[in-house]
Amino acid sequence: MQADTVTIRELSAAEAEERLGELAAILVDAVAHGASVNFLKGLTLDAAAEFWRGQLPGIADGSRHLLVADEGGALIGTVVLSKAPQPNQPHRADVGKMLVLDSAQRRGLGRRLLTAIEELAVAQGRTLLQLDTTCGSAGERLYERCGWTRFGVVPGHARAPSGKLTNTSFFYKQL
Ligand SMILES: CC(C)(COP(=O)(O)OP(=O)(O)OC[C@H]1O[C@@H](n2cnc3c(N)ncnc32)[C@H](O)[C@@H]1OP(=O)(O)O)[C@@H](O)C(=O)NCCC(=O)NCCS
Repeated sequence: MQADTVTIRELSAAEAEERLGELAAILVDAVAHGASVNFLKGLTLDAAAEFWRGQLPGIADGSRHLLVADEGGALIGTVVLSKAPQPNQPHRADVGKMLVLDSAQRRGLGRRLLTAIEELAVAQGRTLLQLDTTCGSAGERLYERCGWTRFGVVPGHARAPSGKLTNTSFFYKQL
């Protein structure tokens, strides 16, 4: 199937809870393929589901938004917008868990998820976005191509799933 058969849509907290297994599978797939997304090699489906469970209260109260790529009812990608909680940053949010199943990559879904989360951020009054990603990763190329500005690199900031220390690029985008 081609990317245009895929819908990008927001999940409610209730649906996210129902679909914790699929969300967990997307996160486990990313880690298994070496992506540095806060977890180390050996991430289990249960541990990944716990991560997503921890996102549910924020999704329910509107401080977070979860978008998914849905292909014929199967979830194959995610991205999360987390609004800055600080009273003096009501215009800012962080983007995270930009994940596309390895088998569905290079079809434009990452770009579509990123565009959709930017549009959602504007609709929510969040016009300054930040994120970080491993130097040299597919994510870094995606953000550069989508007009994000890299404002720094922190050496040895995070471990890859293999345990190897990696450098992290920090990006922002003004919408
Ligand atoms: C980053 C990620 C979401 C990109 O998803 P994707 O669906 O493959 O991205 P797209 O197909 O929309 O590609 C977007 C752009 O990035 C480029 N790109 C994506 N993957 C690439 C790769 N492996 N090598 C080179 N370029 C790549 C594409 O060429 C495209 O640019 P273009 O539209 O100008 O041609 C995906 O690689 C992923 O889930 N990686 C694992 C998790 C991860 O590291 N997430 C980022 C954490 S911050």
